Amino acid sequence: SRRMLLASVLLATVAVTACGKKTEQASASAGAASTPAASAAKEYVVGTDATYAPFEFQNDKKEIVGFDIDVLSAVAAKAGFKVKFVNTPWEGIFSTLQQGDRDILTSAITITDERKQSMDFSDPYFEARQLIAVAKGVSDIKTFQDLKAKKVAVQTGTTGDDVVKKLLGKTSSNIKRFESMPLALKELESGGVQAAVGDNGVVINYVKNNPQNGISVVADDKSFSAEFYGFAVKKGNKELLAKINSGLKAIKADGTYDSIYAKYFGAKK
Ligand code: ARG
Repeated sequence: SRRMLLASVLLATVAVTACGKKTEQASASAGAASTPAASAAKEYVVGTDATYAPFEFQNDKKEIVGFDIDVLSAVAAKAGFKVKFVNTPWEGIFSTLQQGDRDILTSAITITDERKQSMDFSDPYFEARQLIAVAKGVSDIKTFQDLKAKKVAVQTGTTGDDVVKKLLGKTSSNIKRFESMPLALKELESGGVQAAVGDNGVVINYVKNNPQNGISVVADDKSFSAEFYGFAVKKGNKELLAKINSGLKAIKADGTYDSIYAKYFGAKK
């Protein structure tokens, strides 16, 4: 009955909360991850294509860091589970959920209707939009439409690839596909294409960190719609999805999300 269901949900919540508390205390006092109480928290393997600064990338020590990493780590801490990030190439990243090699994906993944057919997404945690990168001083590219007769670089299988496919035609040989966004932008730098299209945060970050490379950006908010990033889990994994969403809610409510946001993008307007 509904009342029974409610009662068991309540019980489960109490149990999870109590368990989370114990874990926190244990690791706070012992400081080690190997204490029995700490290891009771379930660890999930998280796939991430760490070529996508500032969302996921490798620092000088080859550690996987970034906005997505901080957000999901904070979510996990709140919801009482552990995460282990594993660098996973974008191409084929979605099938690792099906195969059971990864439990969660975080990779600045845009929630799309098509992807929702084969995996489940958390509530959105970030808003993004496509942005056009061109060679500095180029004046004949002012809107997305202007790319129609140009060679354009994208990361294979991204939403950038999708929009460019729609404009140039699925089979257009003017679309140059790369396995990472930095490779697509390098192609623009070397003159192999006239533009690259990708997520705004990543393109802006790249241009900022490589000012000598002669790239500038063209925004076209009329042609590109808002995209929302979500954490992906295997279709039907409701239990894990509920944990992620509750953690996300909590870090949005207590200011943790905002401080992570500010660390990477400055204070919110
Ligand atoms: N947001 C875009 C998409 O979902 C690009 C994501 C690419 N992420 C990455 N880590 N390479 O298609």
